[in-house]
Amino acid sequence: MEDFSALCLKRESCRDYKVKEVDEEIIKEILKDALNAPSACNSQPWHFYSVSKDNAKAFRKFIGDGLGIINGFCKNVQNFIVITETPAKLKPGVLGDKQKFAQMDIGEATAYLTLSAKSKGVDSCIMGLFSEEKIKKFLEIPEEYKVRIVVALGYGVKEEPRPKQRKDFFEKVTLK
Ligand SMILES: Cc1cc2nc3c(=O)[nH]c(=O)nc-3n(C[C@H](O)[C@H](O)[C@H](O)COP(=O)(O)O)c2cc1C
Repeated sequence: MEDFSALCLKRESCRDYKVKEVDEEIIKEILKDALNAPSACNSQPWHFYSVSKDNAKAFRKFIGDGLGIINGFCKNVQNFIVITETPAKLKPGVLGDKQKFAQMDIGEATAYLTLSAKSKGVDSCIMGLFSEEKIKKFLEIPEEYKVRIVVALGYGVKEEPRPKQRKDFFEKVTLK
């Protein structure tokens, strides 16, 4: 069992991948972990699309689309997970519409997914830059779903994680 704090230090945005696909069984295990993420009212406002090797070449063109070379590091990536937000059915009157709960839920699922991946030796990069329109068409995603995040999955060239660049503890935390 991996120590969780160590896992948090090891999970990083990987931007240099080997040309190596992730086994479908491992992808399924990662997705099972992501599906165990919490969500407001347990609404589970998400649907995951797993893009594997056969479709990766075509899919890569939609990442950073129209934005030059941004996310061009995906050239070797053989597996992607597209996380879509689906219409959430929250208890009426309880949570209302004041918060974007579904977007928080997607964030939770993304964290579960990337940490699960790392626990299985799989590197990842969360990406927010892509052509939603082209992805929806390519994957035949229903109109009412919103593509929130694309995660690259694969095996990084580098073994050792870089030191985390984070603001000071007390700039971001208040102990009362
Ligand atoms: C919502 C979101 C969108 C992101 N989009 C991109 C992206 O399009 N391209 C990229 O290279 N990294 C992207 N990242 C990764 C962040 O740059 C990265 O998490 C941050 O710099 C911290 O580095 P670390 O993940 O290595 O700890 C994104 C991260 C999040 C959470």
